[in-house]
Amino acid sequence: MINNKAIIFDLDGVIVDTAKYHFIAWQEVARQLGINFTKKDNELLKGVSRIQSLEIILKLGKKSLSQSQKDRILEAKNQQYLALISQMNEDEMLPGIKELLWDLKQKNIPFALGSASKNARRILEALNITDWFTAIVDGNDVSKAKPDPEVFLIAAKRLGMQPKNCIVVEDAQAGILAAKRAGMKAIGIGQAENLQQADVVLPDTKYLNVDIFDKL
Ligand code: BG6
Ligand code: MG
Repeated sequence: MINNKAIIFDLDGVIVDTAKYHFIAWQEVARQLGINFTKKDNELLKGVSRIQSLEIILKLGKKSLSQSQKDRILEAKNQQYLALISQMNEDEMLPGIKELLWDLKQKNIPFALGSASKNARRILEALNITDWFTAIVDGNDVSKAKPDPEVFLIAAKRLGMQPKNCIVVEDAQAGILAAKRAGMKAIGIGQAENLQQADVVLPDTKYLNVDIFDKL
């Protein structure tokens, strides 16, 4: 039986598939800037903060903007993203996640959120699972984005757990690096070649279960 361990979940790409909505909103930004932005390019934005995402798109298009132009674009992008996720409900949770979180709750295994998103609380509310988390750490709580370990170290602190007893579930390379730098175990969701530093890689959230956490 799993003992003295806690789980820290990333949000986007682990609990819910929001990448498709971020993509629509970033594609609109790119279109307005005359930059070609593909689904493959969108992979570069996974786990990356909002401002860094814009910087990556500008770099792809070899464009530079003033800070006030960037601020205006970030605000417009977020408004479009919020409109896209406004109808989100628990049906959009990734396969097996709701059952897994419920199982963890029943087994008294504490879990936290460790997300780069400043919209994380709003999304958890829409999914109706806010109260299930012992701690929530999001993009509003950190000064350094993943791959910096800050978000996960704050989560461990709020969980009252040692980093070595925390297991992070992440879909992004930056997030796996952040977990390892925090001295935690990391489970990658996705393709192994993108998540090389992970302790375990699973192709889909549906394969996550308490036994996997127990063995780590
Ligand atoms: C991460 C996503 O979880 O949050 C990124 O993987 C996103 O794609 C980042 O850019 C910031 O999200 P938000 O909601 O604050 O714009
Ligand atoms: Mg993610």
